[in-house]
Amino acid sequence: MSVNNEKIIEIKDLKKIYVRGSEHIHAVDGITLDVNKGEYVAFVGPSGSGKTTLLHLLGCLDNPTEGSLMVADRMVYCENKCMNERDLTKLRRELFGYVFQKFYLIPTLTVEENILLPFAFYQKEDAHKNAKHLTEMLGIAHRLSHLPKELSGGEMQRVAVARALINRPKILLADEPTGNLDSKRSAEISGIFQQLNKEEGITIILVTHNHHLAESAGKMVELKDGKLV
Ligand SMILES: Nc1ncnc2c1ncn2[C@@H]1O[C@H](COP(=O)(O)OP(=O)(O)OP(=O)(O)O)[C@@H](O)[C@H]1O
Ligand SMILES: [Mg+2]
Repeated sequence: MSVNNEKIIEIKDLKKIYVRGSEHIHAVDGITLDVNKGEYVAFVGPSGSGKTTLLHLLGCLDNPTEGSLMVADRMVYCENKCMNERDLTKLRRELFGYVFQKFYLIPTLTVEENILLPFAFYQKEDAHKNAKHLTEMLGIAHRLSHLPKELSGGEMQRVAVARALINRPKILLADEPTGNLDSKRSAEISGIFQQLNKEEGITIILVTHNHHLAESAGKMVELKDGKLV
């Protein structure tokens, strides 16, 4: 695969096959795709079309079965060989922020502690400063000492976004980030993503069934049966 500074993710003929007994599920079935630095991409498609599987492969959260995956000029997977687990962990931590549909906030920790969670195992001095900046930007600065159960769905989602951004990722991956939100809260998250992409230059890749959110992305990629449409 060629090295190009503009590309942040390059996948070639990527496949993920799940084996369940005698059944082989081709969840991602030969996808070739480039994502450029600073791009904002939305994956759309029917349920079961492979969107989450593809997002997890791109985010190095799961190994492909075949094909190649290059992230930030590093070969993650090629010819059945995968980057070693130590380098993978480093890559995930340095490059990616993840937002999942179910916020996965820790109920017994405050908002601030949840946001700072990625720092639990390694310290950085500017963590609190960055948490303050992010929570101000996301409009949840006044909620720092609250517990998740005291927040609205939209606020919880914004805490999850702040947590994903605390390590200053180059790439933000989000799976159905507005899946549990009403249209007003969805529009807020959509605005935040546009701001992050335009003003902070963060590359965003998300999965959504929400037309407004998909349309606010610079590029829409449609999947069907594990293939690009
Ligand atoms: N761990 C797994 N083991 C076996 N099959 C799986 C596994 N994960 C996903 N699949 C199958 O792979 C296919 C793609 O699933 P995936 O979750 O990527 O779809 P999706 O497009 O995200 O769907 P949805 O919109 O419902 O979230 C489906 O047929 C699903 O049943
Ligand atoms: Mg999914």
